[in-house]
Amino acid sequence: MLTNAIAAGAVSEFAADVRAGLTKEGQKELPSKYLYDAVGSKLFEVISELPEYGLTRADERLLRAHAQEIVQQIAGDVVLCELGSGNGSKTRWILEALSRRRHTYYYPIEISPSALRTCERELADIDSVGIVGLEREYLDGLLEVAARRRLGQRILVLFLGSTIGNFSHPADANFLREIRLILQPGDSLLLGSDLEKPIRQLLDAYDDPLGVTAAFNLNLLARINRELDGDFPLAQFEHRVRFNSETRSVEMHLRSRQPQTVKIRKVRLSVRFKEGETIWTENSHKYSPPEVVRMAEGAGFRCVAQWIDWEWQFAESLLMAI
Ligand code: TRP
Repeated sequence: MLTNAIAAGAVSEFAADVRAGLTKEGQKELPSKYLYDAVGSKLFEVISELPEYGLTRADERLLRAHAQEIVQQIAGDVVLCELGSGNGSKTRWILEALSRRRHTYYYPIEISPSALRTCERELADIDSVGIVGLEREYLDGLLEVAARRRLGQRILVLFLGSTIGNFSHPADANFLREIRLILQPGDSLLLGSDLEKPIRQLLDAYDDPLGVTAAFNLNLLARINRELDGDFPLAQFEHRVRFNSETRSVEMHLRSRQPQTVKIRKVRLSVRFKEGETIWTENSHKYSPPEVVRMAEGAGFRCVAQWIDWEWQFAESLLMAI
């Protein structure tokens, strides 16, 4: 009964967001968090393996090389939590470094139940670790972790990949401020951010020749068809990427190939598209290293250290709450 009530709530939130985004004046849009259902999460794992998308490998290289150094910066009894853990494969090195010191709790916070289960399973072999998956939105999950903390424990929040860049300015800085408000002085945040790089390289990373990224983006329409009884003809929409040099971000869109009307029955909505009209699904801002430091300082953190992968131009910043 309870599970059904929660599932119904989740559907209606998705329905409400789809309605709001597709009836917006001007540019239509859909929130990118809905890209990550079971199919989307798997497709994103494949994206991470593509030669054109070096971001995840850069993130992993930095974590593997510096895990020991990172945890050494944080003294005492540490509770680890991660916003959007995915399958948790990047977390292993930090978790191993922490659990070598003492028994450690790890709270992956993830809205995709399938990714969360994989994460719990994959990391279960590490000694001296307790894993408690939280199927929550980022900040709700973090509040829960903060509520469970015992006296003297410090929280280390991982926010890896480049999700911070998916919040448009100034929402990225505001999000860091919201994290900071839940934390206490001495807690820390390890923040991944993708850095500026040649435009060609960025366009290839977000529009690979195999079409996996296109499938990942189009799956959002397929998900609306599946869950909200929509009738998006997938072949009549295409994945489009552009670099916005003013905001220094890669923009992902779904473009209607022809004039058409789409019905979404569970939302009782009929949406009209002109030929060439797009739905904006994602924004991926590319930072400079000092820009990350300034943003963090403005949000109430001090940047303790920053590690940069020069091969892909990606940064890991260790930020301490002050
Ligand atoms: N956070 C990832 C990024 O910005 C998400 C992502 C990768 C993505 N490829 C995408 C989102 C394609 C939408 C479409 O790099």
